[in-house]
Parts: sequence; structure tokens; C-alpha cells
Amino acid sequence: MTDHINQAQLTLSRLYPRIQTEFPQIDMTSAEWNIFMQRLEETFPRLFELLLHLYGSSYDFFYHLEQLLFVIVRMWLERDADLKALDQQRAADPAWFKSNQMLGGVCYVDLFAKNLNGIEKKIPYFKELGLNYLHLMPLFKCPDGNNDGGYAVSSYREVNPALGNINDLKQLASRLRSEGISLVLDFVFNHTSDEHEWALKAKQGDLVCRDFYWTFPDRQLPDAYERNLREIFPQERPGSFTFIPEMNRWVWTTFHSYQWDLNYANPMVFNKMAEELLFIANLGVEVLRLDAVAFIWKQMGTSCENLPEAHLLIQAFNAVTRIAAPAMLFKSEAIVHPDEVAKYISRNECQLSYNPLLMALLWNTLATRQVNLLKLALQNRHKLPAGCAWVNYVRGHDDIGWTFSDNEAAQLGINAYDHRRFLNDFYTGRFQGSFARGLPFQENPRTGDARISGTCASLAGLEQALDEKSEEEINLAIHRILLIHGILLFVGGIPLIYLGDEIGTLNDYTYRDDPAKAKDSRWVHRPKFDWQKARKRTDPTSVQGAIFTGLQKMLAIRSAHTAFSVGDLTIISTDNDHILGFIRSHGTKRILVLANFSENEQIVSANLLRLYGLSFGFVDLTTNTQHPLKAITLKPYQITLLQNLSPD
Ligand code: GLC
Ligand code: GLC
Repeated sequence: MTDHINQAQLTLSRLYPRIQTEFPQIDMTSAEWNIFMQRLEETFPRLFELLLHLYGSSYDFFYHLEQLLFVIVRMWLERDADLKALDQQRAADPAWFKSNQMLGGVCYVDLFAKNLNGIEKKIPYFKELGLNYLHLMPLFKCPDGNNDGGYAVSSYREVNPALGNINDLKQLASRLRSEGISLVLDFVFNHTSDEHEWALKAKQGDLVCRDFYWTFPDRQLPDAYERNLREIFPQERPGSFTFIPEMNRWVWTTFHSYQWDLNYANPMVFNKMAEELLFIANLGVEVLRLDAVAFIWKQMGTSCENLPEAHLLIQAFNAVTRIAAPAMLFKSEAIVHPDEVAKYISRNECQLSYNPLLMALLWNTLATRQVNLLKLALQNRHKLPAGCAWVNYVRGHDDIGWTFSDNEAAQLGINAYDHRRFLNDFYTGRFQGSFARGLPFQENPRTGDARISGTCASLAGLEQALDEKSEEEINLAIHRILLIHGILLFVGGIPLIYLGDEIGTLNDYTYRDDPAKAKDSRWVHRPKFDWQKARKRTDPTSVQGAIFTGLQKMLAIRSAHTAFSVGDLTIISTDNDHILGFIRSHGTKRILVLANFSENEQIVSANLLRLYGLSFGFVDLTTNTQHPLKAITLKPYQITLLQNLSPD
């Protein structure tokens, strides 16, 4: 290690004069340059060591290192002054994203507001909801027709012309920033589309570009790799390789045949993608969603998921960002086993991560009415390293996969295989008595595997209840929606709302009429935002209003209590299989959160409340009323928040 540090320092000192010659315009006496140099000196040893691990055996290692350094300096020079100011501001308050005021939203630009200018006009709506983190789904140039919802990028520097152009995007980012809203975009870096310039050149015979991808002259290696690979979209496209006639070669395509996996074993690919990453950072992006992190490194004989080198790669991108655009955070999208999800989360890798386990287990708990698995997961897995946070969500644009730990299930006597089958039956409505209206996604007849599509409201029973015109069921569905959102809000982390869910958007089956979408049931939960319905959001007697105002009420409670940002989380035993209980405590303040996951009333005894610190009585934060110690009754699917009173 110290050897490497020495070597890194020596290398850097030899690179300085090269920077001077390459960038004569730099004023090396300026304060700005000094700040940059400080970061470079601090971070370079880490970057050097990571690259040495990844590319040390390449004969032109130092050449690529020098090129990377030039990229870093050039992109830093191109960074606007207000973003450099933001870099300083974030450095002074690195925990900014852990505040209890944080609230995220995610939407497709076209489906929500037609185009980027339309999004700008919706800023008042975002503010009404209290959003300060806005994830816009992929908006870069992509193939017409089939493009996996934009996850097949043809250029990281051009906006999809239907949505606007790069200047609109920059302007939007800065408008959002001035309103206190951080822009979040995807970095789809596991693959490019087959229409990306590199892919096009590769097809034309350019060998340098061909080496940017994993290509093979025949099936020998693909077959050997496939022995250990999981199919991601088995229904649509079995296998992980696609034959490209123009090249007369097979190319690695983990996802769809038009999404070509990048070859990060090639140091040039790392450098090129580092440049694209910094370009996106310089647009004013504050959180970068790293797409499909699990798949970025391949090695024969392994599943090619979550390999150690995948982590080194992300850490190297993190180091590059720390030097050139430090305000930007990484969010990991690893929808894998919870042990693996956790490995992507650290200050030097991804500071933020989706929480797919919480998501899956909230739905699990609604189906079973048993909090056991959720409780165990929160106990064992919710705590994160310092400087990191979960992004908690109940729905996103993707399917729901049941990624809980089989071992933890077994500890509770649950057979994971059977249980996943049950959950799939339940959420596709095949299970008798189910309230849910979901669709299967990528059912694999070979393995019996499936995932679930559907909007939050349809999965929570609203669609069925409305069809049946049952007031009682409608009410239950609304409370299920509020309950699971309540857990997101109070458990700690950044809650992320899939926009549309706040007004109870139902499944939209019209995707079946579009041949580019018909085979992908995820489109059922990607409808156009219904602004007509959204108008009812202030009327609590409407379905939309009951959900919207219910959310606002919980948000107001959350933002009034710092215990929800800095407070510790303790999961408690409630002596009741249907009630999840936890405490957020900060100083002498304790807030007890009790969530009833059943459609029946449940009683919590005074003794239990005493046991968890409410002996002098409590304030019920949902009604803002004060009570002496007493038993309380939780209504169906009710979430309640009780704050301790002190003796005097
Ligand atoms: C991510 C996206 C998903 C996409 C895949 C391939 O998992 O969330 O929508 O299909 O990556 O880019
Ligand atoms: C798989 C991948 C995940 C992706 C999803 C798309 O589950 O692990 O990254 O979002 O497929 O459906």
C-alpha cells in the first residue's frame, strides 16, 4: 500500500509538467486551481491504486493514465462557475442529503410534461409536493421504437430531440437548482445502444471501436460464458449474446439485443466513459444513478454479476468525480441479493443506493400481513456506513423482484422458493382473495422465476376496489398506499415517489397496442401523467385527494422532527405479528412509529408503550393530541407516530 502511495505521488509529480504543456491557459496561481490541486493530490493515490488493479497489466498503462488525467483537467476547466461554487458548498455540508426535508420524485419527461420545457413549467407542482430531488428518466438520444425506455443510449451528449436539446437540459438543471431541487439523471454505462457512434463504427470494421465491446467470432466463448449467466429478459430474448451480421461476430448483450455491453477490461473504455460521466456532471446533475452496476465486469466461469472488479471500477469513477465534479453523488442501482446490494454502498463508491429489499418486503408484508421478514431485514440490514443513505421507494419504472435473503426467510420457517411463487400468484391476482392487479414480467418457464409489473395503486388494491365499486375496499387500498409510503418517510433515507403514485395512478393496459412495447409488461406502470385527475388532489373526499393530502400530512410531520434525519433507528418487538414498530430517537426525544399491516384493528397495550419509553404519556403526532399512558387502537393499515412526554 505505502509502495503504491509513493509510486502514485511520484507519478503525479511527473504528470504535472505534462498538464502545464497540455493546458497552457491554466492560471496556476489562482485559488480555484489550488482547490482543484488539493483534491487531485488527495484523491490521486486512491485512483492510481484502483487503476493499477484494473489495468496494471496493460503495457500502455501510463499512457492511459496520462490521458485520463487530461480528461479530468479538461472537464474541470469546462465546469461552470456556479457548479464549482456548488462543489464548495457541498464540501462544507457533506451530509446535506440526509436531511428530513429530502423528498425525491421520478418521472419520464415525455409522459409527465411532454418535454424539458414542460418539466420546467411543472416546478410549482414539485414544490407543492415538497420535492427537492428530481430523477428524470433517460432522456439522451436513443434508437426510435425499441429503446428500453431510453436505457439504450446512442449519445451521452445529445438529448432525445423529442424532449429538447442539451441547452434546454442545462437550463432546466440550473432552474431546478435555483429552486432548491437537485437534478438526478442516469448513467447507463453498462452498455450503449447499437446506434452509438462506437457501435456503428465497430459494425463498419473499426477495430478500435470493436474493442469497446465484447465481441466473439463464434459461439465457443459465448457458450462457455453462458453456462454461468442469468438471463435478464428470458421471455423476449433468451441468452446473453447477439449475432451481428455486419461484423459476422457475436456481441455481449446482457439486456436487449440492441444494448451492447461495454468492455471495461479495456482501459480506453474507462477513459471514454469517464469523460461522458463528467460531461453529464457538468450539465448540473447532482446525483448520478449508476444503472445496472452489477453487470459491468465479466469473468469466465462466474455469473458475471457483482464481481469485485465491478466495485473497483465504480470506485475509480467515484475518484474521478471527487476530483473534477465533487458535488455529484452516485446512486447505485443494484437490484440483487441484499448482501450484494450493500457492497456498493460506501463513501468512496456509491453514497446512495436504491433499497430494493425494503421495497420488496413492503409488498411482501401487505400480501402476508406478517411483519416478520420486514422486521428482520430492517434489524439486520438497514444501517449504512457514515456518509451514505438509502433511497427508499415502493415503485419505480421497473418490475418488482423478490430479492430477499433465502437464509433470513428460512430462519423464519419460510421456504423462499414456494414463497416467491406465492407472491407472484398474489400480485398477479391469481391467488384467491388477492386485492392486487399486477402482471407477470419475464416469467421463465425453465426456472419458474417471475417478477411483477403494476402501479402502486393497482398492486395495493385500488383498481379492483374501484371496479367493484366497494367504498370499504377503496378505503383499504388508499390506506395500504399511505402505509407503505409512510414507512419510506419515517424509516430513514431519501424517500422517492414514482410520480403518479401520489394521486393513485392505475395500470394502463394500452401499451399492448404498441408493438415496440407489447412484450414488456413494465409499460403497464408507465402511463402518461393524468393532469385532469391531479386536479382533484386538494379534495380529500376524492381518491386522488385522499392519497395526496395523506402524503402531505405525513411529510409535514417528518419535516418537523429532526429525529427523522439524524435519529437512530431501533426496531422493536410489538408482540403482534401484524404490527411493525420502530423508534427514531434523537437526544431525549423518542418517536415511536407503529404500523398496522392488517385490515383488522389491532390494539397495542399501555404496557408495551411504557416498555418503549412512553411512561409519562405521549403526543400523537398524527392528530397532534396529548395523551396519558394508555392502550391505543390501530385502525386497519394505520400508521401512527407517538412522541414521548417528559416527566415534568
Ligand atoms: C436498469 C433499468 C432498466 C433497464 C436496464 C438496462 O436495470 O432500470 O429499466 O432495462 O437497466 O439498462
Ligand atoms: C434485473 C436487473 C436489474 C434491472 C432489471 C430490469 O433485475 O438486475 O438491474 O433493473 O433486471 O428488469
